[in-house]
Amino acid sequence: MTATTQTPKREAFGSRNVFILSAIGSAVGLGNIWRFPYVAYEGGGGAFLIPYLCALLTAGIPLLFLDYAIGHRYRGSAPLAFRRMHRAAEPLGWWQVLICVVIAVYYAVIVAWAGMYTWFSAQLTWGPGNEEGFFFTDFLRSADVAEVGLSGEFVPQVGIPLVVVWLLVIVIMALGVKRGIGAANMILMPLLTVMFAVLVVQSLFLPGAMEGLNAFFTPDWQALADPAVWASAYGHIFFSLSVAFGIMVTYSSYLKRKTDLTGSGLVVGFANSGFEILAGIGVFAALGFMAQSQGVAVDGVASSGIGLAFVAFPTIVSQATGGSIIGVLFFGALVFAGITSLISILEVIVAALQDKLGWRRVRTTLVVTIPLAVISMALFSTTTALSVLDTTDAFVNAFGIMAVALVAVIVVAWLLHKLPVLVEHLDRRSSFRVGRIWKLLVGVLAPLALGYLLISELVTKITEPYGGYPDWFLGVFGWGMVVALVVLGLLLSALPWGAHSHAKDDPDYDEFLQSEDYDPDPETAAVPTASAPSERSEA
Ligand code: ALA
Repeated sequence: MTATTQTPKREAFGSRNVFILSAIGSAVGLGNIWRFPYVAYEGGGGAFLIPYLCALLTAGIPLLFLDYAIGHRYRGSAPLAFRRMHRAAEPLGWWQVLICVVIAVYYAVIVAWAGMYTWFSAQLTWGPGNEEGFFFTDFLRSADVAEVGLSGEFVPQVGIPLVVVWLLVIVIMALGVKRGIGAANMILMPLLTVMFAVLVVQSLFLPGAMEGLNAFFTPDWQALADPAVWASAYGHIFFSLSVAFGIMVTYSSYLKRKTDLTGSGLVVGFANSGFEILAGIGVFAALGFMAQSQGVAVDGVASSGIGLAFVAFPTIVSQATGGSIIGVLFFGALVFAGITSLISILEVIVAALQDKLGWRRVRTTLVVTIPLAVISMALFSTTTALSVLDTTDAFVNAFGIMAVALVAVIVVAWLLHKLPVLVEHLDRRSSFRVGRIWKLLVGVLAPLALGYLLISELVTKITEPYGGYPDWFLGVFGWGMVVALVVLGLLLSALPWGAHSHAKDDPDYDEFLQSEDYDPDPETAAVPTASAPSERSEA
């Protein structure tokens, strides 16, 4: 093998702490800041903590451990890790990679909007009382897809910051796992934490804050009898924890061999929840202020997602004393939280291609990110961006993330019977042993909960056309997109692995298979030739 064609060595995080910070950076994102507060409020306020904690403990954290176990045990990006588990499982990994492609292209544009709004907050650009009109008409120049079809009209105030976001993440990604992703998280996460803490304290001192908190925390016990509330708790937790779409598989493959996996997972899981509860407190304190100044009840001003961030918050910024500071902190926090999550989503794609082709970091990063940036610009810097974003987000969450999570647990637990070897791997070096309970949660409870959720989502989306969009539009960006992810995933796994791919040439994995850290898989160990080489040959 010549020096030019040699397979590059697999990258790694500098330390376990950098991994933990990066995993928290991935988990804490737009989902925590703009989705959680409203999901919790809608789902019974204080009482929502019960389904939320159940979802976190019975599905979120167990599946987080599953991702860690797969990534760390099979030491690869999602497609390679699943392939090493079993050749036929590779499409699961590509399915996850493609889900990340879809999320990355729209996630970047929300970060770009937040970047512009950080600037607008300092100037109060929208003008008093015009927050809604400013966002939809002046800023996005939003057009109705039912009237104009898919627009190609470029919106420069969105397109230009979007280019900046892509350039920034391309540089971080090109620098690699340690110098790029690890370093970005080491800088951005402490900044984000301080900004968010200041924002929450400042919100708590606004007049009317207590009313907002009362609305947020007052338990509505009846909500617990509604299955939809439980479904929203489970639905939220996967996106929020960055679980089941390849991120944690990829990140944990960069961890040193001797690592306390479950201890790290608990830190990440509880830090993510702590952050989202703090976000709920900050956001509802601010909404309490807005309700009081408009003389209405809190439920008259509470909204989710885009409406909360880009309409309600600018209104608060206009009305509060020191509002510009609140705005800069809030939108700045969205940018930082968004970037640390976006790079983790992109890493799933870059790592998969790097493993498959055996290319070097910079080349793979450019080949992956430039086309994604172009797609992102083409779809989301035009006047119909909002409808495309809303539809792809709703469909990829339900029929992408939740569907792949369900299929993965069925394949891993029931078809390949890999839970015993994975539990062994998890418990080997961990401070918190997961044992049989984990197998029960992943193998039985999670598939039941996910199956129920998916069926109910399917029924809802079939009976009520999502968002009232035209059929052709839902056919392309909703149903068509989710089917395409599965078909393309199968096609990508049929492509041969390059001669210098990590599936064919990975001294680090070979060394692991020979080491004392490796627990032979009883199934492969049963093959008369020694366990390690037989498992190696699976790839
Ligand atoms: N976990 C990330 C979020 O919550 C993707 O936004």
